[in-house]
Parts: sequence; structure tokens; C-alpha cells
Amino acid sequence: MTDAGSALKYTRVAMLLHWTTVLLVACLFALGAFMVELPKGPARGYYFALHKSLGICAFVLLWVRVAWRLGHRPPPLPDSVPRWQAHLASGVHATFYVLLVMQPLSGYLSSSFSGYATSWFGLPLPSWGWRDAPLNELFTELHVLCSITLLVLIGVHIVGFLSHVLTGQRSLGRRMWPW
Ligand code: HEM
Ligand code: HEM
Repeated sequence: MTDAGSALKYTRVAMLLHWTTVLLVACLFALGAFMVELPKGPARGYYFALHKSLGICAFVLLWVRVAWRLGHRPPPLPDSVPRWQAHLASGVHATFYVLLVMQPLSGYLSSSFSGYATSWFGLPLPSWGWRDAPLNELFTELHVLCSITLLVLIGVHIVGFLSHVLTGQRSLGRRMWPW
């Protein structure tokens, strides 16, 4: 297929929100995987607190993004894009928004039922629960399940992006590219 050439780009603000989210989510995955392997102690407490604080930033950023998105529709795709691809892409994007709400919420709930305090860079936040091992485990499992689903979707998203770039539809791949 030839390059769609004139595919319209997202706005600068949409790009800034997209790539800040990507950076934050990548840090959260790395931090999450690293901290759960640490032995109990001050280092584990420090990295858990950092993960929770950054996770809350991701939650707030998500709502900023939703607010922006409600007022700014994404640029239309060129007619050369098959309908099934357009549907798949919007399905993946919509599921991202849902998961980026569920992931921090399940983390917050897991933390609330763990018996440990939840704070945002040192600022104490209300606990939504009490020390309860089964509930803590339930929300931790939900948190992990969301993160696995998020990883799978990120994989599908990147394959979609690469398929455009590798089949010569570079302008489609550049819709979210600031440069
Ligand atoms: C944490 C990882 C990521 C998340 C959560 C994410 C989320 C999203 C969402 C929600 C949209 C749709 C924007 C909207 O219409 O509101 C989008 C679009 C896009 N993303 Fe990502 N993304 C991620 C990583 C990436 C990566 C790594 C790449 C490139 C390698 C990428 C490339 C793109 C492109 C090109 C678009 C525009 C799609 C189009 O043409 O409509 N994304 N992304
Ligand atoms: C988009 C935001 C977030 C992402 C992508 C994320 C991702 C992760 C990942 C990948 C892990 C490691 C899971 C494992 O391998 O066991 C993890 C663990 C954890 N996260 Fe998050 N997280 C996010 C937000 C939050 C928030 C907001 C909180 C709490 C306020 C939180 C609390 C926790 C806790 C307590 C654990 C440890 C669970 C355990 O004991 O195994 N997370 N997170």
C-alpha cells in the first residue's frame, strides 16, 4: 500500500499528554517489577511509596487527558485505512483509557487494605480500607491482571504502529510523532 502522505497529525498537546503517559507508565512498570523483589526494609518502603506517588500522577494525568480528549476529537484517519484496522485501533485506545483508570484504582485499593499508609510524595492520603489480607490479595491480583492486559495492549498498539511504518505508510505512524 502507498503512503497515506497527508495523514493529519494529533495536536501538540495530545502528543505531550500521550508521550508523558508513556514515560510514566514505563517507569511504573519498571519500578513495580523491581520493588516487589526487594526484601522487607526501608528500601522496599521507599520504592513502594515512590511507585504509589507516580501511579497517582498517572491517574491525575489520565483525567487531564480525558478532559482534553472530550473537547478535541482525534484527526480523522485517511480513507486508505481499512475499516477493521480503524475499529481495532479505536478499541485498543478506548481500552487503554479504561485500564489507565483501573490500574491506579486497584493499586490504591490494594495499598488501602495492606495496612500500610498511602501517601503522595510524603503527603498522607486517606485509606479506603483497613488491614485485611484477603482483600489486599484480591486487589493486588487485580492490579497485576490489569498490568498484564496493559502490556498485551501496548504490544498490539506497537505492532499496529510498526505495521504502518514498515508497509510504507509512514505518515500514519507519524500522527503522534512530534518531530
Ligand atoms: C504506555 C504505552 C502507551 C499507551 C497507554 C498509549 C495510548 C495511546 C492512546 C490512548 C492513543 C489514542 C489517542 C486518542 O485518540 O486519544 C494512542 C495513539 C497513538 N500511539 Fe500510543 N500509547 C502507548 C505507547 C505508544 C508507543 C510506544 C508508540 C510508538 C512506538 C505509540 C504510538 C502511537 C501512535 C502513532 C498513535 C496515533 C494513532 C493514530 O494514528 O490514530 N504509542 N496511544
Ligand atoms: C498506571 C499506573 C500503575 C501501573 C502501570 C502500575 C504497575 C504496577 C506493576 C507492574 C506492579 C508489579 C506487579 C507484580 O509484578 O507483582 C505494581 C505493583 C504494585 N502497585 Fe502499581 N501501578 C500503577 C499504579 C499504582 C498506584 C496508584 C498504586 C497505589 C496508590 C499502586 C500500588 C501498587 C502496589 C501496592 C504494588 C505491589 C503489589 C504487591 O504487593 O505485589 N500502583 N504496580
